Amino acid sequence: MATIPRDLPRLAHPLEPLSADEIAQAVRLVRQRPELSQRLRFFNVSLHEPPKERVLALAPGETLEREAFVAVLDNASGQTYEAVVSLSRGEITSWKHLPGVQPPMLVEEFIDCGEAVKANPEWQEAMRKRGITDFSLVMIEPWSAGEYGLADDPKGVRLTRALTWVRRHPTDNGYARPVDGVIAFVDLNTLQVLRVDDYGVVPLPPEDGNYLPETVGPLRTDLKPLEIYQPEGPSFQLEGHELRWQKWRLRIGFTPREGLVLYTVSYNDQGQERPILYRASICDMVVPYGDPRPMYFFRNAFDIGEFGIGLMANSLELGCDCLGEIRYLDAVVPRASGDPLTIKNAICIHEEDYGILWKHYDWRLNHAEVRRSRRLVISFIATVGNYEYGFYWYFYQDGTIQLEVKLTGVVSNGAEPLGASPPWGSMIAPGLYAPIHQHFFNARLDMMVDGLNNSVYEVNTVADPPGPDNPHRNAFRAVSTLLARESEAQRVINPFSARYWKVVNPNKTNRLGQPVAYKLVPGENVLPFAAPDASVIQRAGFMTKHLWVTRYDPAEKSAAGDYPNQHPGGAGLPKYVQADRELENTDVVLWYTFGAHHVVRTEDWPVMPVSTIGFTLKPLNFFDRNPALDVPPPRRHCTPGRADGDGCH
Ligand code: NI
Repeated sequence: MATIPRDLPRLAHPLEPLSADEIAQAVRLVRQRPELSQRLRFFNVSLHEPPKERVLALAPGETLEREAFVAVLDNASGQTYEAVVSLSRGEITSWKHLPGVQPPMLVEEFIDCGEAVKANPEWQEAMRKRGITDFSLVMIEPWSAGEYGLADDPKGVRLTRALTWVRRHPTDNGYARPVDGVIAFVDLNTLQVLRVDDYGVVPLPPEDGNYLPETVGPLRTDLKPLEIYQPEGPSFQLEGHELRWQKWRLRIGFTPREGLVLYTVSYNDQGQERPILYRASICDMVVPYGDPRPMYFFRNAFDIGEFGIGLMANSLELGCDCLGEIRYLDAVVPRASGDPLTIKNAICIHEEDYGILWKHYDWRLNHAEVRRSRRLVISFIATVGNYEYGFYWYFYQDGTIQLEVKLTGVVSNGAEPLGASPPWGSMIAPGLYAPIHQHFFNARLDMMVDGLNNSVYEVNTVADPPGPDNPHRNAFRAVSTLLARESEAQRVINPFSARYWKVVNPNKTNRLGQPVAYKLVPGENVLPFAAPDASVIQRAGFMTKHLWVTRYDPAEKSAAGDYPNQHPGGAGLPKYVQADRELENTDVVLWYTFGAHHVVRTEDWPVMPVSTIGFTLKPLNFFDRNPALDVPPPRRHCTPGRADGDGCH
């Protein structure tokens, strides 16, 4: 029986992510299982979270048994296993064989797959037909295969559909030249190329798509320095993974699948620690493309469930877009071999000035009061092949929490003959085509507004009917409707009724006797366009509704199910809600789907300016008054009433 390495902190908080030593210890124990070969790919080794009742009941200085969740694919047998390992006791406490599932595809598999494709004579022949002979400049991109019920799709294998792009020279933006018409089908377990489809030669787009400073022509010269200077350091304190910032307190976690996770978010209101969220993460996403042709119809990447967005987190040592006093946290994830990999500076924490927080000018007294808004930003960025996703959680001084996804990088594309212009997308450069698509995300929000038991209401604003109570026909009001059970709690946005959803604690009231609540305010959103029986709708049923509410079950973690890769559909939220559990005054989980709709523009080429999508959680009768009254005035003197004064506005 293995022992706990001595250098582990004795009293790690039970939600502290696994250290490199803990990952190594868990992997060592799992490797000893007799049914496993030596050809293992560890796709998840992360904290096995203890029951939340136990975490919440923890006395200061106390801790719980440390456990690791280990998930591994055996390439030799094609079988997947999940284990729970007690790190404190050095033993496997739970072992599960999961027949028929396909775990996420790993970057190590991308590399092996690329080598296998490049060595395949059929694929080589297809390249030569297109004048491509230097295979060292070729980029192979294995796309998740999906499950389309096609008769000629290879069955019972760990399948990928691999596409090809080619660079003109080693530092070229390879995505400028899609090698259209060629798809290689590869079994990632055996690394066999099963089939190469060739739909015909399309010329490579003629232009480069480079964006390095030396390639874009003269750079603009009129940018003066803008420095963010925090002479006394940041206003937050980081202790391990616990973060305190003004009245906010929370814990930061990180998993290979979801990336950033927030735990136990609370706000100190006049000396009282008031919980809001137990756990929050973006638990799933999918990118359906709208082009029905053979090169495109299967592009439906589930970047979280099929690839593990935490595994693809950037090390911000290579470049960070944040200004000011920044603190970083490393993320420790498994390599496919099981060896721990430390992604240096994966999580960025910093503060931003965010314009005005509140203001009033009393024109009778000629007196202005204004406060500047400061927000705390916790972020990470992941690169999924061609695309970048930045995930930004914001905390504000007025109790608001916001999540913003920043989409950037290079759009997925294909080549078209010069003069062609297919209706399912946009021409973005000569001979270069980008299909229309959408990016759907799902935020899993395990709420605990002032306690574990909450109720969820939909609020719509409606006009009163004309009548004796509405003689001027101006009346309108906000009407709350309880979402009493899971079958009722599957909703879509309605901007015309100013629809929002509120999470109420019916057991706690503010000083006016109103139940305290937080509301989920949708941002820009959209629904999918694929037909109800389309494969992607079956596999990502979560995107057909913007709001889902479920009764808390620790096993329900993923909007599209635990293993979406090659899954035929029905998993995740549509399955979770089948029990139609009651929701009133219980431990509820909100699942919010938000979709970015992308009709690609020429301006999105060759690298896309950031586009954002997200949502907001706002206190609703949670505080007795504006909680940000105690933010001190700006230190610089402001001339009363002069908006053009000295820069304090
Ligand atoms: Ni897009």
